[in-house]
Amino acid sequence: MKNSTARTSVLLAGLTLLMTACTQSNNPTATNTSTTGTAGVSGGIPIGIALAQTSNVALLGQEGIQGAKIAEKYFNDKGGVDGTPIKLVVQDTGGDEAGTINAFNILINQNKVVGIVGPTLSQQAFSANPIAERAKVPVIAASNTAKGIPEIGDYIARVSAPVSIVAPNSIKAALKLNPKIKRVAVFYAQNDAFSKSETEIFQQVVKDQKLDLVTVQRFQTSDTDFQAQATNAINLKPDLIIISGLAADGGNLVRQLRELGYQGIIVGGNGFNTSNIFAVCQARCNGVLVAQAYSPEHPNEINKTFRSTYLEQFKKEPPQFSAQGFTAVQVFVEALKEVDKKSDIAKMPLEQLRTELNKQLLVGKYDTPLGQISFTPVGDVVQSQFYVAQLKVDPDGKNGKFVSLK
Ligand code: ALA
Repeated sequence: MKNSTARTSVLLAGLTLLMTACTQSNNPTATNTSTTGTAGVSGGIPIGIALAQTSNVALLGQEGIQGAKIAEKYFNDKGGVDGTPIKLVVQDTGGDEAGTINAFNILINQNKVVGIVGPTLSQQAFSANPIAERAKVPVIAASNTAKGIPEIGDYIARVSAPVSIVAPNSIKAALKLNPKIKRVAVFYAQNDAFSKSETEIFQQVVKDQKLDLVTVQRFQTSDTDFQAQATNAINLKPDLIIISGLAADGGNLVRQLRELGYQGIIVGGNGFNTSNIFAVCQARCNGVLVAQAYSPEHPNEINKTFRSTYLEQFKKEPPQFSAQGFTAVQVFVEALKEVDKKSDIAKMPLEQLRTELNKQLLVGKYDTPLGQISFTPVGDVVQSQFYVAQLKVDPDGKNGKFVSLK
């Protein structure tokens, strides 16, 4: 370790071209920056965060940013990358593909980031990730769970376990709560890549468990009125309803199903994994089951620190998307340290650093708030522990939490 002041200033000088304005990570609406490290700029190794801070998708995206920012402080307090801090550069993707493509282009070409965490939705990733792939910029997804994300290219990896691994757990938990479940209605958002991917898994598990799939109802993530689909499904007397959608649409659908009298178990997919959903369905979301790739109770040291920092800052348990956002930044930091051990990253041209970083991150092992993780050669996360939580909401609908089922 050459962790000296001299070393720090050499690195900072060498990284001048990579630096970005310090307002970036604090200003959620920043869309453009200097990349020249002019005087007064407090720099660092720029890591791009392309997540949704606006639109309905921000219900998920903001939690990712919270986790990433906790990681930025955590690793910088520990000396960053051999004395050089990292600097998150946040670009709002909004909820669609065009905004994500724009955010990626700015991060890659103007902010000169070494890698990108994001985007929020798989739907956005299928459009924007090819841009990073062509530019040879490593991307770590922190919430994309659709089939096929790492396969987009050599520079694409994820720390968000795929639907095929996570989703079946919630149906199994529902069957444990009510072994008499027989008739299942499935709903999914047909304009969303993740929801389409997840429903395929859910429907396969329903068949594998020899349950009757009585109906498949489709909606759009932009929908707010689900009366027609909900009525169709309820008329078929299901005793389990499974929903693949995002937080706003999914929350409204749950609320309307309950208002129309459905009393059986509801399973929500990965888009339900945020306490922001309580504002949408309030007490009507009580009891919904959601599979998770994170537990605040994971006992390793880094999770204890992450959890207590999050609790102190936000006065609630850290959600899955925050833990995954933290983890994505952690992977970049630890891989940067490894690259720097082999060859001084301050002297490395940006293109070479991005490529070396991509190679390194795929071969590392990481002790994260999600537990021990590593990557398959194509860039999918290898993780061993998964959970199912049940939403518990106060009768007045004001406060709620995710309670882990044992
Ligand atoms: N898991 C959701 C997706 O992949 C957020 O789009």
